[in-house]
Amino acid sequence: MAPWDYTGRNVLVVGGTSGINRGIAEAFAAAGARVAVASRSQEKVDDTIAALQALGAESMGFCADVRDAEVVRLGVQSVHESWGELDVVVSGAAGNFPAMATGMSVNAFKSVVDIDLLGSFHVAQAVYPFLRKPGGSLIHISAPQAHIAMPGQSHVCAAKAGVDMLTRTLALEWGAEGIRVNSVLPGPIDGTEGMQRLAPKEHHRQAVAQSVPLGRLGQPEDIARACLFLASEQAAYIAGVVLPVDGGWSLGGAAATGAALGAMLNSNSPKSKEK
Ligand code: NAP
Ligand code: COA
Repeated sequence: MAPWDYTGRNVLVVGGTSGINRGIAEAFAAAGARVAVASRSQEKVDDTIAALQALGAESMGFCADVRDAEVVRLGVQSVHESWGELDVVVSGAAGNFPAMATGMSVNAFKSVVDIDLLGSFHVAQAVYPFLRKPGGSLIHISAPQAHIAMPGQSHVCAAKAGVDMLTRTLALEWGAEGIRVNSVLPGPIDGTEGMQRLAPKEHHRQAVAQSVPLGRLGQPEDIARACLFLASEQAAYIAGVVLPVDGGWSLGGAAATGAALGAMLNSNSPKSKEK
């Protein structure tokens, strides 16, 4: 991948063991960085470390559920003890499932808010003491749902809107110390868990692809390239932005996809089956 050189830089990708975030971890590794990853599954952490090492990167990782602030803090501390100050943190642990607001339990709503929003706060607080000052970069992986209401996504819409306001607030609070905080909002990314959950069948996938102005689903590399740029000195004056990387999907297609998701959930609902 293109011209980025992160040799000697320390990168942590939280939720970096699959999908989009793993693509980001691999891109930083390929660009020469030391890359640490964290998620709940030890197996996924081990597998990702091996893959990053196969790319020639120094790599480590830790197991943490981002809902547990203390476990996150200890994990981040262990990376700092091994490598020193963090140059880049990508914070993208998240959960999603399609469910109408009236069709999910309070705990279902809470679990997504706790992972996406509270978890992002836990990560931000844990990394703050160890981010390079000046020069550190924190990137939140948000979603178009932060700004585009979608049926079946009340939990994600609420949580990711919070994540983007966390980005903007931290950019204000930490800017004076030379830490830049930004959000990246991936569009529909092919082959990922998130895409599989919202567009489970091939015809759903094709409809989503057609709703993207650029005419295709995204690839993890599309998101990774945006992160490589945002974390670099080329983006030294960019702070507090909420950047869609979605082929223009958020201009209209995302709302159409949301409507289709709502129709799918309604047609599967017990009430609709009674009719
Ligand atoms: P994914 O493969 O399911 O990745 C989620 C990652 O987060 C995994 O590494 C997972 O590992 C980790 N994780 C989940 N819950 C966690 C928790 N409680 N504590 C710590 N780690 C946790 O999903 P993806 O589809 O690639 O999505 C990645 C990011 O992109 C998310 O922030 C998502 O909201 C955003 N996004 C995705 C799309 C898309 O098209 N896929 C579109 C817009 C935004 P463990 O299971 O080991 O914990
Ligand atoms: N529809 C409605 N409710 C659902 C649901 C669905 N499809 N899936 C889970 N829930 C509910 C559960 O029933 C539970 O509520 P309850 O206690 O009232 O029964 C609540 O959500 C929590 O579920 P649980 O499985 O205990 O949570 P968890 O902490 O083990 O997992 C999730 C969190 C639910 C978000 C899980 O899907 C996950 O781990 N996702 C990570 C991967 C992912 O979502 N990737 C996509 C990209 S973000």
